[in-house]
Amino acid sequence: MFHFTIQEPAAQSPAPPQAIDAFGQLPQLASTFDHVDGLFYFTYAVCIFFFVLIVGVLLFSVVKYRRKTWDQPPQSSVTHNTPLEVVWTVIPLIIVMVMFAWGYMGARDMTIAPAEASRNLYKATAKQWNWTFSYPNDPAQSFNEVWVVKDKPVEFLLESTDVLHAFYLPAMRVKRDVIPGRYQTIWFQPTQLGQFHLFCAEYCGKDHSRMYAKVHVVTAEEYAKRPWDLWDDSTPAAAAKSGASLYSQICASCHTVNGTPSVGPSWKGLFVKNADGTIVGRQREVIEGGARKTITVDEAYILESIKKPDAKKVAEEPYVRNAMTAFPDLEERKIKGLIEYMKSLADTK
Ligand code: CUA
Repeated sequence: MFHFTIQEPAAQSPAPPQAIDAFGQLPQLASTFDHVDGLFYFTYAVCIFFFVLIVGVLLFSVVKYRRKTWDQPPQSSVTHNTPLEVVWTVIPLIIVMVMFAWGYMGARDMTIAPAEASRNLYKATAKQWNWTFSYPNDPAQSFNEVWVVKDKPVEFLLESTDVLHAFYLPAMRVKRDVIPGRYQTIWFQPTQLGQFHLFCAEYCGKDHSRMYAKVHVVTAEEYAKRPWDLWDDSTPAAAAKSGASLYSQICASCHTVNGTPSVGPSWKGLFVKNADGTIVGRQREVIEGGARKTITVDEAYILESIKKPDAKKVAEEPYVRNAMTAFPDLEERKIKGLIEYMKSLADTK
């Protein structure tokens, strides 16, 4: 298959526009699964051929055999034609069996990983509406972004903690449903450096369309720098900056930072700045164990709200009704970064 070429992006550059193939239908292939394109275009060609044939015969018949006067008798009384019916049953049957066998072999190829890919095992956890990635032999996780090495086969163990999702990476030509209560696997061998889009391809609720991630295919040297774990908390300002980038990955879909109401309460005003520059938590009304109480926002409250969001819910519509995704495994330094970021939003009283 003929492909347009794209330039290799420099590290850190934004996602390149993903080139499409000669027929303008598929993103440029970036893995070894080249058999998928053949099946796609075979199916496409069959559909176009039969669409043109059927609609053509239909239009021809409508014009040629239309009734020309109100009392014109039928031109033919034929009700069926056995050889014709056998032909239009057997030929499509053969065609769909070819598609089935071709698709079955492709699905088997992408779900049964070779040993080399299984030794490079990642985990992708889907939940409304985020992707969390774990790396082989590495304790750190990343959110909505994952790094893999070019030319190295990689297997993903897929897991959902809530509803059905689907792991869909068009440039690699892989797709598999992510099913709650069950592990699924998928593998591929990336062949191009760059950033590629991972989509959720199974409708999973309100923010399904925003549930996507970036897959970075990098060199082994770049990978060795562990780009998913860059977290600078050497100063409060650096921690706030790290927290801000984590906020945009996992919190921004529900919490604003400018006071605008959203699914969850805005982070603006959680902390306020006194005239002397000290930053203190504001008081807020919450429901704890069914009882309304007033608390002062502090680090313990925020930590609890990230790990167990239902413990103290903001006693205000609609927040008292809305449920938040819990992040029980979020590392402490990352929670501290988020808190520094919240504090950086404090205004003078
Ligand atoms: Cu997750 Cu759609």
